[in-house]
Amino acid sequence: MANIVIIGTQWGDEGKGKIVDLLSEHADYVVRFQGGNNAGHTMVVEGEQIISHLVPSGILQGKTCFIGNGLVVDPEVLLKEIDYLTGKGIDVGPEKLKICEKAHVIMPYHKAIDHGREKLKGDKKIGTTGRGIGPCYEDKATRRGVRFVDLIAEEDFRERVGAVFAEKNFYLKEFLALDEIDAEEMMDQYQEMAARLAPYVTNVSVLIYEGILEGRQVLFEGAQGTHLDIDHGTYPYVTSSSTVSGNACCGAGVGPMEITGVLGIVKAYTTRVGAGPFPTELFDDIGDRIQKKGSEFGATTGRKRRCGWLDMVILRNSVRLNSLTGLAITKLDVLGGLEWLNICTGYEYQGKALNNFPASLKVLAACNPIYETLPGWSEDISGIRDFNDLPQHTRNYLKRIEELAGTTIEIVSVGPGRHETMILKNHFVEA
Ligand code: GDP
Ligand code: IMO
Ligand code: MG
Repeated sequence: MANIVIIGTQWGDEGKGKIVDLLSEHADYVVRFQGGNNAGHTMVVEGEQIISHLVPSGILQGKTCFIGNGLVVDPEVLLKEIDYLTGKGIDVGPEKLKICEKAHVIMPYHKAIDHGREKLKGDKKIGTTGRGIGPCYEDKATRRGVRFVDLIAEEDFRERVGAVFAEKNFYLKEFLALDEIDAEEMMDQYQEMAARLAPYVTNVSVLIYEGILEGRQVLFEGAQGTHLDIDHGTYPYVTSSSTVSGNACCGAGVGPMEITGVLGIVKAYTTRVGAGPFPTELFDDIGDRIQKKGSEFGATTGRKRRCGWLDMVILRNSVRLNSLTGLAITKLDVLGGLEWLNICTGYEYQGKALNNFPASLKVLAACNPIYETLPGWSEDISGIRDFNDLPQHTRNYLKRIEELAGTTIEIVSVGPGRHETMILKNHFVEA
């Protein structure tokens, strides 16, 4: 029996959706455990692209999908996503999708505050997705949030929202200079949505536990990436949840001994969307070329993603923070046609090599990447399905990643489609 956590090792958009969709074939349950609709996970099946923001990517393989207690969920977005997927002939009924009663609800004031604060910060903004993620987690931490169990009990909902409403409107109007929100209108609208979502709401922790006892295999689908983690990322240029593998336990309500493996998704280069430090960022033609060839646009906001060389300092950081048992390298095809490639093996700070990722953004900004240059390959590798058919220089690049990370590559992805993949090791099948 295997229960695997899949997480992003960089700054998000590593291709988690594709790999989760692929491996879901062997899982029974697929579980999101943190974040919200700031995530945009892309799957391409038989040429059709499907992007999910909240519903776990296992839904396309017909698996039972869970939205864990660790998420912040915008009910309006979730209902739209359910309708969108249903319109594509996918079963997203309450038998297939379960929402944890303890997951938190994103309210209109969370979204307004997210936008208002970013606007006020001007060029110091984080570059959030504007989905209300931070303000909702903030209310959770200050014990003023609304959970799904409250949302579906009208009296409790009105009581919970009523207790914070005056303060929210005061803040919106007086501090952020935004329009106030009409309480009655908002509560009625949310109650309509609650009626539709009520059949989906349940105790996810109990269901997963019972499933595991019966021998079901679980895949935990991370969102964002390790360096957007609220504790371990490039704070404050991070998201508001814990994105590392350990949070699969807290955010889904399972104990740590249930996890049997952690697969880290690594884009063959690095991208970042939004503001914040990025030591190996490219500002030249090569960066442009990677951005264009890789179609590097955010799946949630459509923003252009910043591109740079693969950074082994952050990958080694991810290996340690997540207990990675294996790596999946994605978008390797995008690097084809470059004469040479750089891998950042370390940072130089004030004339000395830094072994660990610094916490201070000032130190990080003063770090210079130390590069190792490897020959590139000119071949189009997107049609290759057997690892041994990859050009020698491509295999050398992968071998060097393994050496520097101290972890083995289990999956190599050479295109967005489900089958444009080489699986070298599959824990679900071997379990
Ligand atoms: P996620 O947030 O980690 O799920 O990643 P996104 O879906 O936001 O971004 C990854 C993008 O790369 C999507 O458009 C995928 O369809 C695409 N993709 C995934 N793997 C590959 C690959 O191996 N090669 C290419 N060319 N595209 C890929
Ligand atoms: P997936 O799951 C890439 C980034 C935002 C911003 C910062 C904070 O698709 O990999 P937030 O709205 O979360 O408060 O924004 O985090 N961000 C992502 N970047 N992929 C994501 O998700 C992201 N989710 C949030 O761009 O810099
Ligand atoms: Mg994404």
